[in-house]
Amino acid sequence: MIRRLLDLPNDDSRKIVFIAVSLCLVCSLMVSSAAVLLAPIQAAQQQENRRMNVLLAAGLIEEGEEDVQVNQLFQQIEARIVNLDTGQFTDAVNPATFDPRAAKRDPNMSDEIPDDDDVAGLGRRERYARVYILRDGDAISRLVLPVRAYGLWSTMFAFIALEGDLNTVAAINFYEHAETPGLGDEIEDPDWRALWAGRQIFDAQGQPRLRVIRGRVDSASPNAIHEVDGMAGATLTGNGVSNMIVFWFGESGFGQFLDNLRTGGA
Ligand SMILES: Cc1cc2nc3c(=O)[nH]c(=O)nc-3n(C[C@H](O)[C@H](O)[C@H](O)COP(=O)(O)O)c2cc1C
Repeated sequence: MIRRLLDLPNDDSRKIVFIAVSLCLVCSLMVSSAAVLLAPIQAAQQQENRRMNVLLAAGLIEEGEEDVQVNQLFQQIEARIVNLDTGQFTDAVNPATFDPRAAKRDPNMSDEIPDDDDVAGLGRRERYARVYILRDGDAISRLVLPVRAYGLWSTMFAFIALEGDLNTVAAINFYEHAETPGLGDEIEDPDWRALWAGRQIFDAQGQPRLRVIRGRVDSASPNAIHEVDGMAGATLTGNGVSNMIVFWFGESGFGQFLDNLRTGGA
């Protein structure tokens, strides 16, 4: 049958259809095999990338540092799952395999955020979060939390690292967003991110207060400890970042978990 089709003249429509269909089949086979074969490599790279971002936020590696043994350094970090509803650690989910984006889409693993609470424009919030702890003896020296919020054009994903007082920012690292190059993408700028170190999230009443303001922080102001310079021409992205702090350090985010950690009840 194949032989007979191949023996037909090249301009015979049956041969043209046969060749076209065969070509499509071979190509789709190649593409799907590549996808299947590359999936584990992609997953390993995604994991290494995430770990690298956590290590950056935890201060275990420097910006632009090369030849980093990511997986080896990461052994110093303890990854745990927190139940955001109770604010307590849980073993109900495996931290190695937990996928927060899939959890956010899964109605059994996430909840719709009521409009008046959804300051960060997230729509839904997963019930669990993977957090990263660096210890000095038994005490927490750095706590790295995953946070996100809608900016002007996109959801901005970041890791924010707190010092052991669970209030002072050690570092922030935005690793995914689609804000405009040259404007909103200044959230990635190392000089701007460096402004966050030493700022405090919570005020004396325990409310999340840290904000990206418009313009420059007046260092003489009593609020300066809770303020970060705005990004010129990108106030709306900055507002998204401020909303991110309000949401994730409030009761619907990590607020209860941090309270529990402070009192030893997590
Ligand atoms: C094409 C285009 C892209 C923009 N991208 C951003 C952005 O990524 N983030 C942002 O905050 N503002 C962006 N803006 C500007 C906003 O519309 C708005 O003017 C700005 O956030 C106000 O900040 P300012 O008061 O500091 O100028 C963009 C404007 C244009 C025309």
